[in-house]
Amino acid sequence: MKNPLNREITVYISLTAAIASGLIAIIFISGNKEYYLLYPIVSILLVFLLTYLVTWLFLKRVPNVNTVDEKPTWKNLDKIFNEVNQDAVSLASNQVREIDRLKGMEQYRKEYLGNVSHELKTPIFNIQGYVLTLLDGGLEDAEINRKYLERAEKSINRLISIVEDLETISRHEAGELKLVKENFNIVQLVEEVFETQEIRAKKRNIQLVFYKKYKKPIIVCADKMKIFQVLTNLITNSIYYGKMEGKTRISFSEVKNKILVEVHDNGIGIGEADISRVFERFYRADKSRSREQGGTGLGLAIVKHIIEAHGETIHVKSKINKGSSFIFSLPK
Ligand SMILES: Nc1ncnc2c1ncn2[C@@H]1O[C@H](COP(=O)(O)OP(=O)(O)O)[C@@H](O)[C@H]1O
Ligand SMILES: [Mg+2]
Repeated sequence: MKNPLNREITVYISLTAAIASGLIAIIFISGNKEYYLLYPIVSILLVFLLTYLVTWLFLKRVPNVNTVDEKPTWKNLDKIFNEVNQDAVSLASNQVREIDRLKGMEQYRKEYLGNVSHELKTPIFNIQGYVLTLLDGGLEDAEINRKYLERAEKSINRLISIVEDLETISRHEAGELKLVKENFNIVQLVEEVFETQEIRAKKRNIQLVFYKKYKKPIIVCADKMKIFQVLTNLITNSIYYGKMEGKTRISFSEVKNKILVEVHDNGIGIGEADISRVFERFYRADKSRSREQGGTGLGLAIVKHIIEAHGETIHVKSKINKGSSFIFSLPK
């Protein structure tokens, strides 16, 4: 009998019936001294066993409604308190976790807004300065006129890049950017990115090369447009943060069912203190060079989002003044 309450009921009923039968036996055999003890004892035992058996059989058929909440007794009080305690503890720790999560989100929101307004302020104030200079008489001078308008245009382009990158990031975070996967040749995609970055690389005399000649196509299954963006961001970084006359080298390797893509440069490198933070939004190891090159500080954050959306990973290895390697995986 699993339910202790059922056992108690059975015992109570059996005892009551047994005592009653004992009393009846005593009344019936009063006067008969020979059996005055034997009959009541036998009667009590028999009736107890019989009633126990019948009640037990009966209760077994009754739906067991009392198995979940044990009836509190001194013996199980400890257990019940423990259970209640554990419920309270797990409820409290859930609440604490939720509060921590909300605090984290609030902190993130504050930092994010602070960063965004800081990033937008610089080009906006620059544009304001150029326009004021022009209005203050610069307009009359043809040379100043052109110079300041060109500078204003540069700042406007910077504003556009920031806003576009921010939009990409927030769409990624909102899960709006769905991947459109297809099989394609990653070697060919890198060649296409090389073509778009040729002029930029030439300006710094940086060579864009493959580690070796990849004769056969290397097919991966991923979102081609987004991987194009990943490669563009990594290769432009290798140019911005590369040394003059340097080299950006792409290599591929196969590990199990993955293709590893490595973008390697022999540029300025990243210090140990910065390396773990370069994928954070707006984090810049080299602030002045990043801004001077028109960097938004969002390029690597976008790269990480895209790679992780594919269920893959990206790592960086770097040594200051030696160069950097960004390695990411893609499914075959
Ligand atoms: N190949 C690289 N070599 C050295 N530093 C790099 C490289 N790529 C990225 N970094 C560092 O990481 C920072 C973040 O990169 P990224 O997110 O692309 O932003 P940014 O717009 O500044 O280029 C850069 O500001 C730079 O300091
Ligand atoms: Mg960048």
